[in-house]
Amino acid sequence: MGKCYPTVSEEYQKAVEKCKRKLRGFIAEKHCAPLMLRLAWHSAGTFDVKTKTGGPFGTIRHPDELSHAANNGLDIAVRLLEPLKEQFPILSYADFYQLAGVVAVEVTGGPEVPFHPGRPGYPVTKLPKLSSANSFNGLVSLKTCFIMLGGDRPYVVEKMRLNNDDMADLCCYQLKLLFRAGGNCVDKYDPPPEGRLPDATKGSDHLRDVFGHMGLSDKDIVALSGAHTLGRCHKERSGFEGPWTPNPNVFDNSYFKELLSGDKEGLIQLPTDKVLLEDPAFRPLVDIYAEDEDAFFADYAEAHLKLSELGFARCLMTGMRLMQLLLCLIAGGCFILVFFSRLVRL
Ligand code: HEM
Repeated sequence: MGKCYPTVSEEYQKAVEKCKRKLRGFIAEKHCAPLMLRLAWHSAGTFDVKTKTGGPFGTIRHPDELSHAANNGLDIAVRLLEPLKEQFPILSYADFYQLAGVVAVEVTGGPEVPFHPGRPGYPVTKLPKLSSANSFNGLVSLKTCFIMLGGDRPYVVEKMRLNNDDMADLCCYQLKLLFRAGGNCVDKYDPPPEGRLPDATKGSDHLRDVFGHMGLSDKDIVALSGAHTLGRCHKERSGFEGPWTPNPNVFDNSYFKELLSGDKEGLIQLPTDKVLLEDPAFRPLVDIYAEDEDAFFADYAEAHLKLSELGFARCLMTGMRLMQLLLCLIAGGCFILVFFSRLVRL
């Protein structure tokens, strides 16, 4: 199914391109590609397909979410990126963090992951209090609402052509703020609850459960796990220690090669890495990716793109699907007509 991406202004698109160039230099200079990729993944991986909450909307910088145990160490990434973000006030944090993830893969030699801008992002740390001056009855336009709220992204709302889903989301957000005093309602711009990211000590059922909540498949799980070709575990952050591969600054298929060659001095394999070898659906993919780096890169790019767009630019029916639906309706209509005309004749 095709996706419906919002149209961003020329100025916004130019900022994305410039920011991408700056990120390339910044990530290379600071040697922080693994941390940036982990930030983008933990930001997106909280999406819940049923409630449409969580996901890559920049909420990870909210202290509530940053302090989740799974995010240990990501405060460093958020702080590191802040001076660069300040140079691009027009960009939403949601787009900015996902762009950093895409660039981290690219500059370390990985596949090019397509990037579509336009994720709405809201100043979750600066939500205004509703005072009597801005509490009101009845409906108010979205633009007025955002001006009243003093949101740091009114620009995005004014300059973007939003589709109906986005408009609906914005209306929910607006209503939620109006009723904030009494309501406990949760929407996707709230930091998600703790516990949505995978626990490295668990097995394949857990992986399927966690990634299933995001709406991702077995193939996505194995391909995305290959991101552990980059970076390392830090005892003080996760309790584990060491890199997965001998060269943790290069994005290649060595994660799968190392996985197949067994435990090695100085390298780590988490329990959730090892289950990829044991599970009958995961294992054939590990074998393929270890053998064929191009196959890994193609599946990784597809899975990373999905991950970075969870809950964003929802799928639209393709022309083909619409045609099928129309044909079904016409056929159904004809059948009913024939049926009733026979009945009348009897
Ligand atoms: C399959 C479930 C996963 C589990 C259980 C898991 C677990 C972990 C753990 C425990 C660490 C070490 C953190 C630290 O001590 O600093 C880590 C690091 C990392 N993870 Fe994952 N991860 C998973 C999936 C992913 C995915 C899907 C991606 C990206 C698409 C990813 C990217 C990374 C990167 C790049 C690092 C290195 C960070 C650094 O060097 O600072 N992981 N992961």
